[in-house]
Amino acid sequence: MKALLLAGGIGSRLFPVTLGVSKQLLPVYDKPMVYYPLSVLLLAGIREVLLISTPQDIEQYQRLLGDGSQWGITIVYKTQDKPNGLAAAFLLGEEFIGEDPVCLILGDNIFYGLDFSKQLEGVVERTKLGAKATIFGYTVKDPQRYGVIEFDDKGVALSIEEKPENPKSNQAVVGLYFYPNKVVEVAKTITPSKRGELEITAVNQYFLLSQKLQVETLGQGFAWLDTGTHESLLEASQFIETIENRQGLKIGCLEEVAFQKGYITKDQLVEQVQPLQGTSYGDYLLARYS
Ligand code: TTP
Repeated sequence: MKALLLAGGIGSRLFPVTLGVSKQLLPVYDKPMVYYPLSVLLLAGIREVLLISTPQDIEQYQRLLGDGSQWGITIVYKTQDKPNGLAAAFLLGEEFIGEDPVCLILGDNIFYGLDFSKQLEGVVERTKLGAKATIFGYTVKDPQRYGVIEFDDKGVALSIEEKPENPKSNQAVVGLYFYPNKVVEVAKTITPSKRGELEITAVNQYFLLSQKLQVETLGQGFAWLDTGTHESLLEASQFIETIENRQGLKIGCLEEVAFQKGYITKDQLVEQVQPLQGTSYGDYLLARYS
């Protein structure tokens, strides 16, 4: 399974902050935003990642994340000249994806919940074996801002609509999607929407109509945060701070996840964290693992 990590876009809702820096590099409490979705990929057992960003921002991602070997994974990079939609990722990533199934994750989405990694590992295995795509629904109070899933009374998905004025439910599609390899061909068939984007919702509608879409729900105990506005970015930072301080454990800590998953050894972790000694991030890891 390969993964596409989308870290481009304009970030216009965060102007003027994002006039000078890519949104997904902004801090969410104690680490860059992009660490959180990357840690989800590591937890899911996905170790080959294509990070997509704008031509002006890609070098900063390369400086921050390198080739991924420090976390026992491979990260390669590709630029997206124009922010022409989430589904464009499959066209940019065609060569990288090759014959494999693929996961798409948005660089500004944060996930936190019990047993999430087990759930993800299950979805990865199922996607590898079968021809079905999987998306996740989450209850929100402002569904108009998202792709919205309508269910029948047995919980079977009936429709998905992008940013509907009159949403048929309050179940939003979150920024994490798993597809069989066919998604590359599907992405080639869709045309830009009214707002000029290749919509991921159009891809999901294809799989839904072909009866090849599994919708899993992320329940009440789960936190899904997006960080696209000043308020939601601040809320996300406060949420991470609260949980981390209460538990004394970090969320989205790539070195720790890589070690726990067996991608790197304890010695490798300690060695690479040495330069961060004296920061709360570095001291946390050194206290736990050295
Ligand atoms: P959005 O939040 O839809 O767009 P944006 O980040 O440009 O923000 P704004 O609406 O405030 O202008 O994007 C969701 C995620 O997908 C985000 O992490 C950026 C990324 N993205 C791309 O990488 N390429 C794209 O073409 C688009 C539309 C988004």
